[in-house]
Formats: sequence, structure tokens, C-alpha cells
Amino acid sequence: MKDRFNREIEYMRLSITSECNLSCIYCNPEGACNKTTHKGKNKYFSPQELEEICTAATKCGISSFRITGGEPLLRPDCEEIISRISGIEGVRRVSLTTNGRLLTPKRLSELISAGLSGINISLDTVDPETDRRISGSGGLGETLEGIRSAANDGRLAVKTNTVLLEGVNDTPREILALAELARELPADVRFIELMPIGPGGRYKGRGSSEVLRVLKESYPKITRDLTAGGNGPAKYYRIEGFKGRIGFIDAIEEKFCSRCNRLRLTSDGDLKPCLCYAATENLRDIFKENDIMIRMEKLKGAIERAIEAKPEGHCFEHREKISEENSMVNIGG
Ligand code: 5AD
Repeated sequence: MKDRFNREIEYMRLSITSECNLSCIYCNPEGACNKTTHKGKNKYFSPQELEEICTAATKCGISSFRITGGEPLLRPDCEEIISRISGIEGVRRVSLTTNGRLLTPKRLSELISAGLSGINISLDTVDPETDRRISGSGGLGETLEGIRSAANDGRLAVKTNTVLLEGVNDTPREILALAELARELPADVRFIELMPIGPGGRYKGRGSSEVLRVLKESYPKITRDLTAGGNGPAKYYRIEGFKGRIGFIDAIEEKFCSRCNRLRLTSDGDLKPCLCYAATENLRDIFKENDIMIRMEKLKGAIERAIEAKPEGHCFEHREKISEENSMVNIGG
């Protein structure tokens, strides 16, 4: 379905938990966000409820779904959720965003059997000490193993996501070490510009122009890959001899709202038209209705209203206008 600005809304991100096993300084410092702002009184949506929400979404033209959190693999029924959603008629893609700590070979094969088509793994550094400083825990080795096994398995589209923070993980050495992963692995290594959401506002991020300057010094022949599609705002580059690509998502340096194609559902049931603004629709109460046909109509109505309510663009450049107070851990990264 098209919104008021002629954008085709075909993609929904679903946060299935606000709990996270990491406490990254720009997202969930000291694990504080989920404890203080999660409304807590409601249980998270069950696999069946999520299936109903996604069924209603497909009737509004949404065909691609991403499961996020918090950390979605903390839910033992994550595979059931993926399996239910991927079985809905009209669903083209179900993907997952995870920090990879729990991505064991067993879990990976269960996710693939459930119908997963792609996986994005957060990787802010390849240095264990820097990782401990950012995430507050050890376990980077597990994440790197998860990335390697997912990429080498070959059945999933694999991407890594790095958020560079000035003075923390933005050295040329770090940037090059991350990029080198795409030489070895058939995975896209992506740099995401920090957005001033919640504790993210306390740090300064890095946009693609600065990262590209570093990359060009070591890989003078890095070239823009204009054939790269995907259902998102990323722009991609290729380096000769590399199996994967280098990608950039610059929410601020290169505002891409005119191509925005998504809605977000938080683990509290808020349906968000834009990251920047507080939600206007909540789907939680609809599940008090016992009749499935009425529920389906109400879900469809709420999704249509959220699409209609999508603003023309975010307002990260005018921080006083940001009405979203939650962190990504609550909204769904
Ligand atoms: N800006 C950009 N990306 C963020 N993430 C969390 N907080 C922010 C922010 N403020 C990213 C994480 C992870 C994904 C789930 O969301 O780094 O890659």
C-alpha cells in the first residue's frame, strides 16, 4: 500500500523482546533501558499473535518482515515465530537481526529450517577489548563464529552491522579490519551511521564519507555497486577480490526518507510509522477481542492508519522535535 508521499510500504520490522544479553553503551547502557522503559505489564506477543499481525500486514501489501529485539534469539520460540510468518501466503522474506552471541550451529540450522531468508549480525568491532568496552560483556568469539558459519553455509543472505562511535571504535585500523571480513566471507559488511536515539544521542557517529576516505587509501579501486538492490536504504561498494560488499546506511549524512518503505512494531505493541516519533497505534488491545475475523479487521485498520500517518521524513537534525524517547533496545534495532 502507498502512503501519502507515494512510497510503497512493503516491509515491517517486528521486535519480539526488549530484553538483551548485551548492554551496549549507545543502545542499552548498563542494561538500563529495558528495565526502566519497558511497560512490563504485558507479555510479549505470542507466535500466534505475531502470525495474525503479519497476516493482516500482508493484506495491506507488506511482504517482507524482519525479526528484531532486544536480542530475538533470547526467545526460545524465535524459530516458531519465523516458521509461522514464513508460511503466510504473500510473504516473500523473513529475516532476523541479532548480536550473534547465541547463534550456535544448531540454532542456525533451526532458523534456516524455519524459513529464514537473511540474517544481519551486529558487529561493532573485531577487537575483544573494544567489544567489552562497548557491549559490557565478553563473547565476541561466539559472534564471529556465528557470522562465519552463517556466511559459509551459503543459504542465507548475511550482513554485518557496525555503528562507529567517535573515539571508541572508529580508528582506521578498526575500519579496515572490519572491511577485511568481506574479503574472506560472502557477507556484506555495513557501516550504520549512529542515530541520536536514546543513549545514542550521547555519542558522535561517523557517516560514510569519512569511512570511505579511510577505505579508499587501502583499496583505491573501491567502486560503487549500483546494481545492489535489497529492501533498504543501504548503498553498496565492491572491492576487487572480495567475496562480500561494503555497505553504508547514513540516516543523517544522506537522509533517505523518500525511499522509506517500512513500519516498526515494538515489543510493547506500538506500531511506529517513523523511528523519530512516538507511535500513535498500539496493537496490544486488539487481542482482547475474541472473534478472529473482527481482530483481523482491526489489525488491518491499525496498519493502514499507521501507513497513512507516516511523516515525510525524520527530524534527527532537529533533536528538540524528536518525540521518541525510547532507545533502540525498546523500539527494535
Ligand atoms: N543508531 C544506529 N544504529 C543503532 N543500533 C542501536 N542503536 C542505534 C543507534 N542509535 C543498531 C545496533 C544493531 C542494530 C540492532 O541496531 O548497532 O546493529
